[in-house]
Amino acid sequence: MSSAGTANIGVVGLAVMGSNLARNLASREGNTVAVFNRSYEKTETLVTEHPEAGFIPAKTYEEFAASLQKPRTAIIMVKAGRPTDAVIESLMEVFEPGDIIVDGGNAYFPDTIRREKAVRETGINFVGAGISGGEEGALLGPSIMPGGSDESWVTLGPILKSIAAVAEGEPCVTHVGHDGAGHFVKMVHNGIEYADMQLIAEAYDLIRRGTGKSPAEIAEIFAEWNRGELESYLIEITAEVLRQIDAETGKPLVDVIVDQAGAKGTGAWTVQTALSLGVPVSGIAEATFARSLSSHPEQRAAAASLPGPDEAFTVADQDAFIEDVRQALYASKIVAYSQGFDEIRAGAAEYNWQIDLGAVSKIWRAGCIIRAQFLNRIADAYAAEPELPALLTAPYFADALSRGQAAWRRVVIAAAQAGIPAPAFSSSLSYYDGIRADRLPAALVQGQRDFFGAHTYKRIDKEGTFHTLWSGDRSEIEAEDTH
Ligand SMILES: NC(=O)c1ccc[n+]([C@@H]2O[C@H](COP(=O)([O-])OP(=O)(O)OC[C@H]3O[C@@H](n4cnc5c(N)ncnc54)[C@H](OP(=O)(O)O)[C@@H]3O)[C@@H](O)[C@H]2O)c1
Repeated sequence: MSSAGTANIGVVGLAVMGSNLARNLASREGNTVAVFNRSYEKTETLVTEHPEAGFIPAKTYEEFAASLQKPRTAIIMVKAGRPTDAVIESLMEVFEPGDIIVDGGNAYFPDTIRREKAVRETGINFVGAGISGGEEGALLGPSIMPGGSDESWVTLGPILKSIAAVAEGEPCVTHVGHDGAGHFVKMVHNGIEYADMQLIAEAYDLIRRGTGKSPAEIAEIFAEWNRGELESYLIEITAEVLRQIDAETGKPLVDVIVDQAGAKGTGAWTVQTALSLGVPVSGIAEATFARSLSSHPEQRAAAASLPGPDEAFTVADQDAFIEDVRQALYASKIVAYSQGFDEIRAGAAEYNWQIDLGAVSKIWRAGCIIRAQFLNRIADAYAAEPELPALLTAPYFADALSRGQAAWRRVVIAAAQAGIPAPAFSSSLSYYDGIRADRLPAALVQGQRDFFGAHTYKRIDKEGTFHTLWSGDRSEIEAEDTH
């Protein structure tokens, strides 16, 4: 094998994401990019259509390895799952110790942990890197969340910094943590994205049904909101979508689109992982379930005759109601992000990752789908108190919640009275009330558990673990802690 390769980076997998990422890499000073795809036509098309990129095409994995400088660095952008394993196996056959394999696909983080362990045993480095921003981000600058070893970051860091999005002069990439940390954080990013989208959708639905405004009129409201504290990519594109008129029917496009939301699984992964970690990500869970509910047309058809409220929903003061919805949206958004960051903190503790939560919020400020000014406030909160127990308790957010809570409650009440589903708004409010509660009915749940399962309980007034002899004389005894 030749060691005289000229490319400092390679890309394997040249479908839409891989070819855009390869073009992004090639456009940056100092990069020479080797490219490989299982079927050669895609490689040929890319190289022919973009002569300016100076790509070094390879027909085989051997040629690909030979075209790379050492340590060889290759980013895989293929279908997640088995195809990723197949490519890793092929690269391991032609790479050498010290080389770096990066999986830039949407891998499930336990797969990344497994792959990193297996690849590391050969002396080759493996980095799972979450890449967010879709096609456009890959081409113009994504937000990148790499895991992997410190050694690989030395080589990879400058390359990824050269292609990442830039927010306020800082590249949107940081070494998130070891092995699966990058894909874990990308997963939670997507979970938060689900919650944010659902909250925006609920806000739209409430305004539309409460005020009778048209999608185009509501688009103007979102455009206005985008100039304030809610400023974000998702609010911006919501206005664009609501403004769009279907060319065929002349109706608002949103009224022509079938109301069944799809999902690629990252929201479900976020919720499943949170359940195992014992972290209540209720906003993300409700958003994921809301998509599931929408996608059961047979059940919805059967349930369509179930009664709703008797009275029609009308809003007396439209402007006041719209402002209430805006505040409810902001408060619920704070809860969703707080829950997502909790999950990252819990994941870091479980998997022994040193994750800087402030740095994570900063790399989400540009390039990715949840990009927003708001993320600066999160970075500030963690800078002021790195061990913040819950994001929503940081002074800035606590103040925002306190200002917004009356409006938030009015909106949840209005939704319930009007029979308009607002699962993310209402579950976020319940979370807020739960987490701030002086006492929770969890005490009763513990009593019930002790009654039927002798699961024991703690007392507020003395140390120890206790059990009541429910089927005996109902006296209390000291017991072993069985949780
Ligand atoms: N971050 C984002 O916003 C975002 C958006 C979209 C996708 N993604 C992720 O990025 C990755 C690439 O996405 P994509 O949409 O560009 O492509 P894709 O449709 O997910 O995958 C197509 C690519 O995988 C290759 N492939 C499939 N099976 C293979 C195998 N067994 N061995 C070798 N190569 C194989 C294909 O090669 P052939 O041409 O030979 O079939 C093609 O290059 C995926 O993991 C996806 O989840 C991320």
